[in-house]
Amino acid sequence: SIVEHTFNVGNLSVSQLCQPPRVITAVNGQLPGPAIHAREGDTVVVHLVNQSPYNITIHWHGIFQRGTPWADGPAMVTQCPVKPGGNYTYRFNATAQEGTLWWHAHISFLRATVYGALVLRPRAGADAYPFPKPHAEETVVLGEWWNDNVYDLQQMAFLTGLPARSADAYTINGKPGDLYNCSDGNQTYRFQVRSNETYLLRIINAALNTPLFFKVANHSFTVVGADAAYTTPYETDVVVVAPGQTVDALMVAARAGGRYYMAASPYDSAIPQGPPFSDTTATAVVEYLGSDTDPTTPPTLPPRPEVNDTATAFRFLSNLTALVRPGQPTVPLSVDTRMFVTVGLGVSDCQPTQLLCNRSATVFSSSMNNASFVLPAPGKPSMLQAHYGGDGETAGVYTRDFPDRPPLVFDYTADASDTAALQYTAKSTRVRTLRFNQTVEMVLQNTRLIARESHPMHLHGFNFYVLAQGFGNYDEATATPRFNLVNPQERNTVAVPTGGWAVIRFLANNPGMWFMHCHFDNHLDLGLAMVFEVPDGPTPETSVPPPPADLPQC
Ligand code: C2O
Repeated sequence: SIVEHTFNVGNLSVSQLCQPPRVITAVNGQLPGPAIHAREGDTVVVHLVNQSPYNITIHWHGIFQRGTPWADGPAMVTQCPVKPGGNYTYRFNATAQEGTLWWHAHISFLRATVYGALVLRPRAGADAYPFPKPHAEETVVLGEWWNDNVYDLQQMAFLTGLPARSADAYTINGKPGDLYNCSDGNQTYRFQVRSNETYLLRIINAALNTPLFFKVANHSFTVVGADAAYTTPYETDVVVVAPGQTVDALMVAARAGGRYYMAASPYDSAIPQGPPFSDTTATAVVEYLGSDTDPTTPPTLPPRPEVNDTATAFRFLSNLTALVRPGQPTVPLSVDTRMFVTVGLGVSDCQPTQLLCNRSATVFSSSMNNASFVLPAPGKPSMLQAHYGGDGETAGVYTRDFPDRPPLVFDYTADASDTAALQYTAKSTRVRTLRFNQTVEMVLQNTRLIARESHPMHLHGFNFYVLAQGFGNYDEATATPRFNLVNPQERNTVAVPTGGWAVIRFLANNPGMWFMHCHFDNHLDLGLAMVFEVPDGPTPETSVPPPPADLPQC
């Protein structure tokens, strides 16, 4: 069936953290924006009406967009933005995946306030989860809140080449919670439960720049899904979610009564530690219904993992495995293309529009294989529109020379004192063109020239299998025997371990132009991105018609 929504993007006045009311950009006057609930196989139709003062696009994070690559949403990659006063209708099928995804603005830093859940339940008639049916479901969207205008924040970051400052608060379902100075009762999200019932928590990290630990005091979880792919049930008392990732977890309300904090606190693996970093905790309250709950007792707070607790983050993120089910695709065992890609921060050639455009000044940059991505310049079409309009390279919109190897092999764990390794990165718009249906294996190797961080690498248009992860420099001889080729976790976003690497594999069976980037907006903005160009397949079913005529033009 068809699930239809109208998204009015416009101004919303919000007052948080004792600040005077502030105007943010929001969908339908809500923060988070409206949740979309669909079943696997449904068609989703969203009428976007832009009543905001900004150019806007919406990305349906994790949706494959098979046959509709123009509906994917990243500005200037698959479409030109919807201008103020304009509108556009997104139309796509939610096929071949179940679980929790989300949607967000994909332009500037506007996704700080323009985001919401996209929940895909099993198809009608096959209404069964591969785990005991929960009594109820609850969407828990984690975010970051700034007391500033986030559009201006992005403009400043881009002009100066410096990352934006850290958020003023983390949030749970849009609210910072009781632990912040100046939060009041209205700024804490409440979730009511009944003793002995089981809840499916759909946890989404919509924060711009921060991986988060998630706990509920005196409760534990059974993880059953991540990034809308089922996992082998995994017992834990802490969930780790990097920006872009989702986790589906069952929680039994196993107490007789009482009030307990849900807490979202930062995992910051950056060395040296610097912005963006705010060492605070967002809370919400889990409140038992019934007479065993004394509403006057303060809720119990769970112990918080240390902010740099990489061991806990790695344990959670590397222990998940896929739930193998009959009839579902599994990891491809042969590989057509192998890529080794460094991801990290460095220094750059600047853009003429940047303020500190001077090679003697440090202009931060981020890159993949030392290529620092920039979107097509104003006046050009989006990459997808150029691709389907003839040839994007001939049109001067992008070049097909994204390298499969880094230009310089060095000790990726070295810091900036290794000046030979600290090469200038050229700004460019490079794509890697694949053949239809080819299998790609990619080693993602973090570098630490400027900062050692866990980059959450997100691929549009596909899920990939995470075969192995580890620390230090990637070593093929010792890593290959550790590949999980039986039940590797399926993801659309992998948090590459800090100071380490991850190996992913995917099948390029989806024609389109697919963005791959760090889901820290600060890093995306500075160039930590590339694009896969996947041509049509040989048959009508594997080919994509030209983009609809009403797709916004630049
Ligand atoms: Cu959720 Cu390209 O992003």
